[in-house]
Amino acid sequence: MDKFVIRGGNPLVGNIRISGAKNAALPAMAAAILTDEPVILENIPDVRDIQTERNLLVSMGAEVELGYGRASHRTTISCRNLVNPEAAYELVKTMRASTLVLGPLVARMGRAHVSLPGGCAIGARPIDLHIQGLEKLGATITQQHGYIEAAAERLRGGHIAFDKITVTGTEDLMMAAALAEGETVMENCAREPEVADLAALLNKMGAKIEGAGTSTIRIQGVDKLHGARHRIIPDRIEAGTFIIAAALTGGDLNVTNCEPKHLGALLEKLEECGVTVTTNGESVRITNGHRLKAADVSTEEYPGFPTDMQAQYMALATQAEGTSFITENIFENRFMHAHELVRMGASIKVEGSRAVVHGYTPLSGAAVQCSDLRASASLVIAALVAEGETILDRVYHIDRGYERIEEKLRGAGAQIKRIGEMLPKKAPAPVGVA
Ligand code: EPZ
Repeated sequence: MDKFVIRGGNPLVGNIRISGAKNAALPAMAAAILTDEPVILENIPDVRDIQTERNLLVSMGAEVELGYGRASHRTTISCRNLVNPEAAYELVKTMRASTLVLGPLVARMGRAHVSLPGGCAIGARPIDLHIQGLEKLGATITQQHGYIEAAAERLRGGHIAFDKITVTGTEDLMMAAALAEGETVMENCAREPEVADLAALLNKMGAKIEGAGTSTIRIQGVDKLHGARHRIIPDRIEAGTFIIAAALTGGDLNVTNCEPKHLGALLEKLEECGVTVTTNGESVRITNGHRLKAADVSTEEYPGFPTDMQAQYMALATQAEGTSFITENIFENRFMHAHELVRMGASIKVEGSRAVVHGYTPLSGAAVQCSDLRASASLVIAALVAEGETILDRVYHIDRGYERIEEKLRGAGAQIKRIGEMLPKKAPAPVGVA
């Protein structure tokens, strides 16, 4: 079990290049199920969830080639010989997004046998809206022994109004409706950039989808989809993580190969905290030389403040002057990181779906534990400003969604190592930084 050892105190300086978005790559790989022709995806991040998705597709009979060397971020998927429309519990329990194969399997194969995902560290996260939507498209669904059995000779278009905004629910049903007979109208859809990116891929495959990225999506079903080539959008949450790290460490960092317009809510909030933000084409420059100001945050669906940035923002709030109220509206149990930050010296009180953070509080290095992907990112960021050394346990959580985070941070001056390697002597502080 890898650990990180982080010595705090170095500002982040220079450039960090952003990888492709995990949450766009996963549905895009599932979309390959919809055709018997090859789908080529570029800018795929080299993270553990992509490996899991690959294993899932291969277990169904797909050929998945993950590129290496110069082509290391390209993936070619062929679902010509799909024989086993099943997503086994062993895979689904390690990655909930595996349920994204449900709609495509029913649409293409007429049948799907998919394990229910079960509970998750950040909340109950049921998939009832995926199931209700598929039933609206004419599928027959039964549930037995922890598995969903879904079947339909051919799905037919229908009207779906989501009771609650769901990202993968919107993606799953958009993929199913692409091969349904007739028109589907979906309302109260998720507007996340990853949804629009999936629709762009599906339309390249011959689908007829309009309105992705808005609350209402209209899909004219087609009989057959073909292969396509598509470049995945940059990861806005990875970008946001490094942007907050730079603001916190008082550095001067350029986050490159990202899409600033996908980061609107976060950048606005950071300016409210007194951070200097400069966007230029595909990069965001962060400079911050003074104490941050406290500012409240409430997580919402896109384009609101993302729940996937809440934990990282909490680390920032511990270093801001004043009291910050952080309200989590999307998931019912997403404050696990708060207890670990308190171990590092933070002053945080969790009251139901709200956390009250008193700052500024100096942090000191400690042994802490990762509980989920974004909580881990929050602890890495906190360790970058903590006095002394932090030992981060269970970093497999962070490897699920961040590509070589320790190398990227080290490239910008951070002192971070995966345990097992001797830490180098303390690097001399850059010129002019006390
Ligand atoms: C996606 O999860 C992301 N994952 C999550 O990122 C992200 O936190 C989440 O959207 C919200 O932005 C991927 O895209 C792979 P939801 P998803 O369905 O689709 C409830 C990360 O860190 N709900 O939008 O699973 C649900 O419980 C991950 O990268 C139902 O009640 O989230 C939640 O409270 C973590 N029934 C809310 O809706 C359903 O059928 C939003 O969940 C579906 C969802």
